[in-house]
Amino acid sequence: MRVDLLIVHAAQVVTPLAEGDGQSRLQVVNDGAVAIAGEKVVAVGSSGEVLATVARQEGTEVIEARGKTVTPGLVDAHTHLVFAGSRVEEFEWRTQGRSYEQIAAAGGGIRASVRQLRRATMEELIEAALPRLDRFLANGVTTVEAKSGYGLSLVDELKSLRVIAELARLHPVELVPTLLAAHEVPDEYRDRRNDYLDLSVEHIIPQVAEQELAEFCDVFCERGVFSVEEARRVLLAGKAHGRKPKIHAEQFSRSGGAQLAAEVGATSADHLDYVDEADVTALRKAGVVPVLLPGAVFFLGKSRFAPARMMLAAGLPVALATDFNPGTCMSESLPLMMTLACTQMQMTPAEVLIATTLNAARAIDRASTLGQLRAGAQADCVIWDVPDYRCIPYHFGVELAQTVIKRGSVVYERAKGTAVGAIKTDEEHA
Ligand code: NIG
Ligand code: FE
Repeated sequence: MRVDLLIVHAAQVVTPLAEGDGQSRLQVVNDGAVAIAGEKVVAVGSSGEVLATVARQEGTEVIEARGKTVTPGLVDAHTHLVFAGSRVEEFEWRTQGRSYEQIAAAGGGIRASVRQLRRATMEELIEAALPRLDRFLANGVTTVEAKSGYGLSLVDELKSLRVIAELARLHPVELVPTLLAAHEVPDEYRDRRNDYLDLSVEHIIPQVAEQELAEFCDVFCERGVFSVEEARRVLLAGKAHGRKPKIHAEQFSRSGGAQLAAEVGATSADHLDYVDEADVTALRKAGVVPVLLPGAVFFLGKSRFAPARMMLAAGLPVALATDFNPGTCMSESLPLMMTLACTQMQMTPAEVLIATTLNAARAIDRASTLGQLRAGAQADCVIWDVPDYRCIPYHFGVELAQTVIKRGSVVYERAKGTAVGAIKTDEEHA
């Protein structure tokens, strides 16, 4: 069997194994190996097993991973990657006691980002997003779902999605585009919100679909933003144009978005901090993947995290994502979200690894190729500078990814980062 890249003698090779009906378990192989040919994984197992089945030829690159852990590339299933400028002043205001909802009602929040994005050119948006993608990669993330939603006009939503398409050509991180025209009602439609919904449903969705600029159609269903009735109209229009539904639901209140997700057969329902048992049952029956975003709760200084244990007990394939955006979670670190899920939602290290690989792939309809290390899967993997996968959420707030492989190629290597002149002789110290 031809092999282009061979990772051997890893302390652990760790992967979820799909078990049908959205279930999975984590497999941990000690002294593990992964063999890659072209863009695909061809063998996974103990170093002994893999070396016995694959032949090392000339040209095979070999990575010795002693003391390190290999996992599938992480998948971030919910981000607002494309935005201009920042909202650092809102961050400061929150430290002084103003809430996210108060700031939004006063014209800040999403609408502040809309004003900034509309002034930015495609080139400026691309230039701002590329270093963000570098940071995702440095955190072991090889696939990122990316939403529009700061344009809120036909031209600016198209501009945002074209930026995502261009970024996908320029950067090794794989992007999955989502239209979020119904993220907020823009300033100029404040007193005629139905006209904005008409624009979204009759013009933005059809044109985005015709130009194949987005795979999913999302909506922010929340008190003060879009009601269940309005969100239903958006998601059904998206479906009619072949865009799979996603929804921001039950983030600040229980407003019925989770039940709507079940009703329309959404691929995922995201946030879910305020769901109840009946909502969880509905999601389970309809096969909707819950995407939990503890970083947004943490960053807004709130304390109501989604009831992950209730969802896991009901058999839901819980996914975790960053929600990366300038307002509610300014971080590209999916490992940090794993830590928050462990400490604030009582998920285990095994559950958070599954939640950021296979279940995250399920949340963007990519489970047939991403999120697992198995023969035939796309060769996306991370070599972490830790001897045990549980150290990924345990040692938090630092970059632990050593080497990142996307579609069979090494696309990131962590720089050494030791202090200049760190080792001094006694005389130098004196
Ligand atoms: O997922 N909930 C709505 N959308 C974002 C917030 C975006 C923003 O504040 O810019 C979220 O938290
Ligand atoms: Fe979001």
